[in-house]
Amino acid sequence: MDTLHFPSNFVWGAATASYQVEGAWNEDGKGESIWDRYSHTPGKITNADTGDVACDHYHRYPEDIALMRQLGLKAYRFSISWPRVLPCGFGRINPAGLDFYDRLVDGLLAANIEPFITLHHWDFPQVLQEKGGWINRDNPYYFADFTAVMVKRLGDRVCRWATLNEPRDIALSGYGSGDHAPGVAGDWKSVYQVIHNLLVAHGLAVQAIRAVNPALEAGIVLDLWGVDPASDDPVDVAAADHVWKSERTMFLHPVLTGYYHPAMIDGSGSFFPDVRPGDMALISQKLDFLGINSYSRTVVGAQGFINKVPGSDYTDIGWEICAPSFRRTLKRITNEYNLPPIYITENGAAYNDVLGPQGRILDERRIDYLRQHITQINLAIQDGVDIRGFFVWSLMDNFEWGHGFTKRFGIIWVDFETQKRIIKDSGEWYRTVIASNSVAP
Ligand code: FCB
Repeated sequence: MDTLHFPSNFVWGAATASYQVEGAWNEDGKGESIWDRYSHTPGKITNADTGDVACDHYHRYPEDIALMRQLGLKAYRFSISWPRVLPCGFGRINPAGLDFYDRLVDGLLAANIEPFITLHHWDFPQVLQEKGGWINRDNPYYFADFTAVMVKRLGDRVCRWATLNEPRDIALSGYGSGDHAPGVAGDWKSVYQVIHNLLVAHGLAVQAIRAVNPALEAGIVLDLWGVDPASDDPVDVAAADHVWKSERTMFLHPVLTGYYHPAMIDGSGSFFPDVRPGDMALISQKLDFLGINSYSRTVVGAQGFINKVPGSDYTDIGWEICAPSFRRTLKRITNEYNLPPIYITENGAAYNDVLGPQGRILDERRIDYLRQHITQINLAIQDGVDIRGFFVWSLMDNFEWGHGFTKRFGIIWVDFETQKRIIKDSGEWYRTVIASNSVAP
């Protein structure tokens, strides 16, 4: 295949999230986050790792911006630690916390890198958790207030604002299985209520952003791994379709249509959440962009989920590599919905990298993974999908939630003992992609 070129103005970026990189967990007046509480609870995280220091991005952001510049990044997607700014989640502002994001934004702009903010990437105030967290119907209003604080402070310099990152994970892992903070192994009624409250929070935050400045761009970041049937057999096809409609698009569908999908309503049965008049219109306000995170796909047969697909390769976190499925999914949502412009807000691979000769990290497999996915994104654009940018996950190795520091996703290596950073071969490769605005498949 020939070299594939991207549209001019295509936004090439890299992403991180506050709890995964910042550290400084109790400095300068920051409040406790549910991830502080969870990672400090014995038995929750591999090797008892915590984000107490993580990549120390809170102190080392100037060095990190210099590295972003070396890579030629056009944008940096990062998130805000809500308890750093509002230690109790509402009310009193911590000026030092706000100042940090102010310096970060100014540093990025000085380096000609666009700041792309996600307001909430799971870093949630413990004080609000004690009021019930996302089960509490007041929580969306606290989120809207937090949003207003951030947008008033940074909206003069930051144009693109995503409300929530992967709310599906908050609901299913945070309040269902309990294997992410806050670690609530809840019943289905509360999981569905959390889903609904998150959607309401998104809607209120969109309003809050536009109330400060209607010219700003508001969106949401959803995880959207494709769902493929195990075979062409109609029973497998129907099973995969059911998972897509009832579960995979549980956020996408209401955000874009103003309705829960009938398959989702059927699936929830008596656990369907309490919905107040006006909620669905709030949830489905027109968006300026849709952020999509995708790493792999789900394969479903009549018997259920297929966890090991014969002949497939897997990354070191156990996720199947299937880039063509990503293209199919992008086409599918373009056909099924009336979409705003899309940013691929996360895509990348975990590999057990080692420091090689001459201090290099020879992560050929990550290059290969990224090449395949960026190629499929280019083909999706040719198919007519309106994709405006791509953010690799992640800028640097960081705290991978329940896996602690054992899963490295970065295009920059981090030595967590010394905090030394080294651009991996994948980072060098990504630099050439950005510089040429093209990929050689
Ligand atoms: C996504 C999360 C992100 C990161 C990647 C690997 O689901 O949004 O924080 O952990 O997975």
